[in-house]
Parts: sequence; structure tokens; C-alpha cells
Amino acid sequence: MKGVQLLLGFALLILASSLASAYDPSPLQDICVAIDEPKNAVFVNGKFCKDPKLAKPEDFFFSGLDQPGDTANRLGFKVTTVNVEQIPGLNTLGVSAARIDFAPYGQNPPHTHPRATEILVVLEGTLYVGFVTSNQLNNTLIAKVLNKGDVFVFPIGMIHFQFNIGKTNAVAFAGFGSQNPGVITIANTVFGADPPINPDFLGKAFQLDPQVVKDLQNKFMNGD
Ligand SMILES: *[C@@H]1O[C@H](CO)[C@@H](O)[C@H](O)[C@H]1NC(C)=O
Repeated sequence: MKGVQLLLGFALLILASSLASAYDPSPLQDICVAIDEPKNAVFVNGKFCKDPKLAKPEDFFFSGLDQPGDTANRLGFKVTTVNVEQIPGLNTLGVSAARIDFAPYGQNPPHTHPRATEILVVLEGTLYVGFVTSNQLNNTLIAKVLNKGDVFVFPIGMIHFQFNIGKTNAVAFAGFGSQNPGVITIANTVFGADPPINPDFLGKAFQLDPQVVKDLQNKFMNGD
């Protein structure tokens, strides 16, 4: 009898833990600090939902992705996002999109999307794109030159980049496996952290003179 009870308890424990994981979705935002007072709550995991009876076509609609983004900036690129911020109907649905414009030799610098795989379609121009595998896979560079009509995939979490190697503007559209993919730009995160990360520490980590680290921190903390 004791043995049966023990087994039952164990089975219930397993059931409870599997149910728990089944009902605990992946995070849809960077942080979600719990709040006791729902009146002041800003986020749930994703966003609060409106009454479905009040949904209208505009909730699932965005217009203007035919318009080029302004690439007159240091890196010569502009991302126009179409995620849950622009289309509220995307909430909980796990997809979003973006248009990326590149000036000649413009670049989308090394970055990662913490919550989404990205699939990129080139509409105009020639892009050199790639991602680097994790430490476990020896940081292998998987890169390719893409032309009009070519498609490339950046797996979730991998550091990746796009570089317009043509003499003309380039345009690409991207699809993401999240309503809110998030962006972590490597240089801005490491050297533009506010307050700054200890320069001696970063110097050792990156094999750089701490003064070089300080110069980088000045650049990335004042603008982009
Ligand atoms: C990574 O490098 C190690 C050591 O050289 C090697 O044994 C392993 O096969 C490599 N793995 C991959 C995925 O290349």
C-alpha cells in the first residue's frame, strides 16, 4: 500500500511538472518583473488582450512597407519593423516582419535576436550575410553572398550580420518567429552599456588596451 501511494505521489509530481512546463510559455519580452497591483501592471507575457468581439481589420493591418527607410546614418542601414507594436493583432501569434534598407556599403552590424529565427529575402542589391555558430560548434562562420530573390536563414540566438557589398541600394524583407524578436546589437551592448562595464575587465576579455576600450565606450555611449 505504502509503495502504491509513493508511486502515485511520484506520478502526480511528474504530471504536475509536465503540466507546469506546458502552461509556461517562452518569454515574449526582455524582462517581466511581477507586480502585486494589477492596476499599475504594464505587461503580461506579451500584452493584455482586448475583447475579441471588438477586433477590427485595422488590428491586423499595416501599410507603408513599400517606403524605403532612411539610411543616412553612420552604418548606412535602416530597419522598419512590423511586429506586435505596429500590428496589435500579432499578439501571441509568434510571427513578425521587417523591411531592411541598405545604402551602398551600408551594414546591419553583428546582432542577435533573443526570441526569433529570421528568414531574409533579398529584393534588390547584393548582400554579404552570415551568422556564427555557438562555442559548442566552434564558432564557425556560415556566410554567403545573396542576390535579388535569394533567401537566407539566421537561426534563433546566433550572432549575424548583413553587408551591402554592391554599389547600389539594397532592400531585403525579413520574417521572424516571434511577435517581438528583440535585438541585441553586440558592440552597443558590450561597449555602450550604461553605466559602462569596467574597462580593465573588458580589455582583458577582448584582448584590448583598456584605453581602446574607453575610446569605444565613449563612441558607443554618445550616440551609436
Ligand atoms: C570542434 O573542434 C573540436 C576540436 O578541434 C573537434 O573535435 C570537433 O569535431 C569540432 N566540431 C565541429 C562541429 O566542427
